[in-house]
Amino acid sequence: MSVAAPVLAANIAESTDNDNRARIGADPDIRPVEGGIDFTSIDPKEDGVTVHWTDGVSGFFHWVWLRDNCLCPVCYHPAAWEKMHDFTLMDMDIVPINSVLEQGELVILWPEAAEDGSSSTHESRFNASWLRRFCYEDWARESTKPVVETWTARIGNNRPTVEHSDIMETDEGLMTWLQHLRRYGFAIVRNAPQTEGVVTESARRIGFLRQTHFGVDYTVMSKPNPENVAYTPVYVAPHTDLSYTQTPPGIQFLHCIDFEATGGDSILVDGFAVAERLKQEDPEAFELLSTVAMDHRFHDHDYDMRRREPIIQLDLDGEVVGIRTNRQGEGPICLDPSLVKPYMRAKQAFAKLTRDPEMTLNFRVHPGEIMCFHNHRVMHGRLPYDASSGKRRLQGTYVDCDQAWSRLRVLETKLRHG
Ligand code: OGA
Ligand code: ZN
Ligand code: ZN
Repeated sequence: MSVAAPVLAANIAESTDNDNRARIGADPDIRPVEGGIDFTSIDPKEDGVTVHWTDGVSGFFHWVWLRDNCLCPVCYHPAAWEKMHDFTLMDMDIVPINSVLEQGELVILWPEAAEDGSSSTHESRFNASWLRRFCYEDWARESTKPVVETWTARIGNNRPTVEHSDIMETDEGLMTWLQHLRRYGFAIVRNAPQTEGVVTESARRIGFLRQTHFGVDYTVMSKPNPENVAYTPVYVAPHTDLSYTQTPPGIQFLHCIDFEATGGDSILVDGFAVAERLKQEDPEAFELLSTVAMDHRFHDHDYDMRRREPIIQLDLDGEVVGIRTNRQGEGPICLDPSLVKPYMRAKQAFAKLTRDPEMTLNFRVHPGEIMCFHNHRVMHGRLPYDASSGKRRLQGTYVDCDQAWSRLRVLETKLRHG
């Protein structure tokens, strides 16, 4: 592979240079944005170059970064949109022979040492909008983070909603649905047909369904020999689903098909808001829940699933990026004995916050509505209902976050570029 790749790259560059330039234009990352940003000037330095854009913003790029990200058809496969440049041959201290602005592009001429010892040159071209999009200054990295808005019970009747016909028939509707899921961690789809199969058909608009031991889809109703307590009429405390798996499903969909029973209101809680509050009010509990792994488990006659993970998941910057909690799916917890009591106390403090009326959104889901939520963030639950008073039937399915956020990015790019 490492031997074949440069040969392939050379062939592409020599034989179909014009075609490749046309196809490079097909990658929306590389296509200049119509009426978009341009450069005003550049300021080459020893280690890299500061580029100045027309809106007064500047950004620094290291030479080694620019060489690493060369977009020419030898370094970057124009059809596959993937890197081919052999990184092991790259000079970590590379400095260009020349760098200039030419027709709205930053054009850099590099020295290139060939494998036979001879030297040549290599040209890279970067357009202003591409460099702006991938600028890695602190401000730029901050500004490209998706906006996440935490919420409490006060969100009340302002729940983010979308019409079923819009998510099924239009890119804009599908994008809005996904934007709600990214921003608020949940959205309610309204006016869906009240029939089986609608939930999977709707979720497939986002991407592949995530199959689990419950199947590709599952029916939530009170039944004899339930495999989990959601399939009984009892209270279900706010939780995330499949906490005992390596990667719990990212987006969960619960479609209300029948609901005549009394009681059974739905509960949603923003886990990020709960974690934020816990951090302020009980930093010790937050520390324990975000650094100590606990045991999650599901077992029946056919399965014994186990996973040790913290309840609050942090990223490398210490930001809360996930919640994993399910009272029904707690394995007997195996902890360092000195941590048992402090951990139990911390876990209870978290659980109490998930039931605080100030934090919880309670509402009755209606037939024809699909509750959708980010299962790594928003906890869901249900009040008890009277199974003798009428039917209550939901159909559920899952899609992973990779599918959802990828679909959202593609739609945002498509609708931005036209
Ligand atoms: C579930 C669940 C809640 C409900 O099926 O995962 O938590 O409203 N159901 O029945
Ligand atoms: Zn190149
Ligand atoms: Zn659940």
